[in-house]
Amino acid sequence: MSGEYGAFDDAAREYVIRRPDTPLPWLNYLGQDDLFGLCTNTGGGYTFWRDARLRRLTRYRYNDAPLDSVGRYLYVRDGDTVWNPGWKPAKTPLDRYECRHGLGYTRIRGARDDVEVELCFFVPPGDDVELWAATVRNTGATTKQLRLFSYVEFCLYEALDDMTNFQSTYSLGEVEVARGGAAIFHTTGHRARRAHVTLFGCTHDVAGFDTSRDAFVGAHNGLHEAAVPLGGHATGSIAHGWNPIGAHELELELEPGESETFSFVLAYVDEGGIPSGLELLDRYAEPGAVDDAFARLQAHWDELLSRLQVSCPDPHANRMLSTWNQYQCMATFNLSRSASLFESGIGRGMGFRDSNQDVLGFVHLIPDRARQRILDLAATQLSDGTCFHQYQPLTREGNAEIGGNFLDDHLWLVVSTCAYVKETGDTSILLEPVGYADTPGSGEDLLHHLEASIGYTLAHRGPHGLPLIGHADWNDCLNLNSFSTQPNESFQTADDVEGAVAESVMIAGLFLYAAAELVRLYRQLGRDADADRIADVRAEMLAAVESEAWDGEWYVRAFDAESRPVGSRVCDEGQIYVESQAWCVLGGAGARDGRAHRALDSVHERLTTPDGIVLQQPAYSRYRAELGEIASYPPGYKENAGIFCHTNPWITLAWCRLGEAEHALATYLAICPSTREERIETYRCEPYVYAQMIAGPDAATPGEAKNSWLTGTAAWAFVSGTQGLLGIVPDYDGLRIDPCIPRTWEKFRVTRRFRGVDYEITVTNPAGLSGGVRSLRVDGNDVPGNLVPLAAGRDRISVDVVLAETRAAAAVP
Ligand code: BGC
Ligand code: NOJ
Repeated sequence: MSGEYGAFDDAAREYVIRRPDTPLPWLNYLGQDDLFGLCTNTGGGYTFWRDARLRRLTRYRYNDAPLDSVGRYLYVRDGDTVWNPGWKPAKTPLDRYECRHGLGYTRIRGARDDVEVELCFFVPPGDDVELWAATVRNTGATTKQLRLFSYVEFCLYEALDDMTNFQSTYSLGEVEVARGGAAIFHTTGHRARRAHVTLFGCTHDVAGFDTSRDAFVGAHNGLHEAAVPLGGHATGSIAHGWNPIGAHELELELEPGESETFSFVLAYVDEGGIPSGLELLDRYAEPGAVDDAFARLQAHWDELLSRLQVSCPDPHANRMLSTWNQYQCMATFNLSRSASLFESGIGRGMGFRDSNQDVLGFVHLIPDRARQRILDLAATQLSDGTCFHQYQPLTREGNAEIGGNFLDDHLWLVVSTCAYVKETGDTSILLEPVGYADTPGSGEDLLHHLEASIGYTLAHRGPHGLPLIGHADWNDCLNLNSFSTQPNESFQTADDVEGAVAESVMIAGLFLYAAAELVRLYRQLGRDADADRIADVRAEMLAAVESEAWDGEWYVRAFDAESRPVGSRVCDEGQIYVESQAWCVLGGAGARDGRAHRALDSVHERLTTPDGIVLQQPAYSRYRAELGEIASYPPGYKENAGIFCHTNPWITLAWCRLGEAEHALATYLAICPSTREERIETYRCEPYVYAQMIAGPDAATPGEAKNSWLTGTAAWAFVSGTQGLLGIVPDYDGLRIDPCIPRTWEKFRVTRRFRGVDYEITVTNPAGLSGGVRSLRVDGNDVPGNLVPLAAGRDRISVDVVLAETRAAAAVP
């Protein structure tokens, strides 16, 4: 299987791009600890340390024409021809080009006129260093005299200032050069409050260097016609203000068949300044050091992904669940919604609801870091139960820069915490003193936060007894209380009317789900009175949902500020929304009277398309101040009837709850990027990671994806595939096996590390069913039910499951 631009190399866990002119730049991420790089298939992108806004090391120009034209570049000058192995920026035609996006690295190979250059970009685990491992080979029959020029453009650390405050920044920039130009240090801010420096070094002898962009590129040139590579020699420029860059010049003479290997080192030195930077450069100049570092990176990913591997009859599910989906979940751990080709690294930091949902996708990979993330998030909750909507990764302090009063936020903390405890069995997290953002040092524990979350929703209900929506719920664009008419105000930060009473059925469904989770947690802790108390308030909410929010064939989405229904058959547009169907069903509404099934049938009939499930129908054709930002988008895009992928796995899970495997798999595959290679000219985004949105049927460009990488789709697609379809569900007392698979699947295998034990699970389906566990054998011994008990102290156990007529009860109450 392969597309016009590239193909999956499943064995190598790489996506191989064979044409550089992909429909959009196709991105990969470098880094796993503190230093991160965005790296496209032509080497474009930038590097930052911890925080893409406050510690930006290299510069990017957003929304540029051409797209993606700043990055980590190497110019090759061979005779009078100048080319780049990644094609950009010179775009000189290449004889051969290949980009392999792998796990934490990108390897670009370009060849022209018998010269082949390979650049492998990666950040080794444990070091704040981005390495560019270079090999230059003469594949021809005559000696080659080459000149190479490296290029990075430094950012003056605070990215917003850097791209807006030129009256200051043009006079701030400073550099220091050591080792004859092999070690270039970006030292801006050093004379004031910054101790950190950025190093751009080369392990090869250099023939020259530049640090001034005007000198290297030319004030009126683009990077594709940079003056120094075209002219042939570096100028030794020292930047004084303006735009500091790092560029090395190398001279290489290669006999036929000969190659040279060396590296460029882009390092962030937080403390220790230039001497520490030079030590780092020396360390990576040692023979074998870069190869060792790469081997460490590979071992890191081998270890992580060995925790869950899938082998099932669907090749898309296999590669996504075993490799790419987990990889994307790690990107959401590292970056939340901050830095991608659609997120500037300046606008948004770590989102409260976003990161809590992301936990579901990485908790099995990095349980300790997930624990810390949950505690960091909880620390940005306020004592009344509401939350800061985001925090800045460097400071970990919450802020309201992108708004507040999103009244679903706090409930996601219950969902992430319970997922963590089920995965790890570590109930000590519940007793961690976290305190609240507005009462620092107060030391209330995490369980107190979960109660605060539940308590807030209960105490803030509207005329129908349903939760108030506040500024918006999960759907950021459903602003039912702000009535914004001013073009100059942000929809997200606009004020809400005093005493606003709009209610959210989606939050009600999420509350049912979160409360059910808390009931089970309390039972697990042996606190039955608390469990009963939460079960009672859940029942009260369920009654309100069933009596007030059922519309006849689906659940209403919300009630607006005047208590009129939104997402109801009585509306002229926006009659049915996906979110309330998903969360009411997942929360357990409509379970006994067929409403759950009817609601999902309505989703199938009215919202489901071959490209995925549309957020609502019919699309809004005009702006409606009483609904807010949602109606600001043209029909078919984003929240206005786009295929907002994040919601789709919720429906997959909901179908699984009802045992409807064919619908569940169809829903799962509809948004799966790996299925898109054949329609890539329409889809445009990377075929190896989920996108936030695919334009819906009402759009002018249906099927076109946008906003790939940083989306809650990643975590939920992973949960829907592994826990919904394959039914491998971590639970408090063991691993539950509850598959919901198409009848045609005869068998599948999963290896899953759970509480330190490797479970090798084989599920066979001799009778062509879609679920139900007839027999469960653990290491050859029959076990009743569908729960594989905990097996502490073992390294691995084998689990054999045979499916039979009746499905076991769903794991989630
Ligand atoms: C987008 C939403 C996003 C929000 C974040 C809106 O413009 O449509 O998808 O969640 O911005 O602030
Ligand atoms: C993207 C945001 O990151 C997320 O928080 C929100 O729930 C969705 N958009 C839907 O509006």
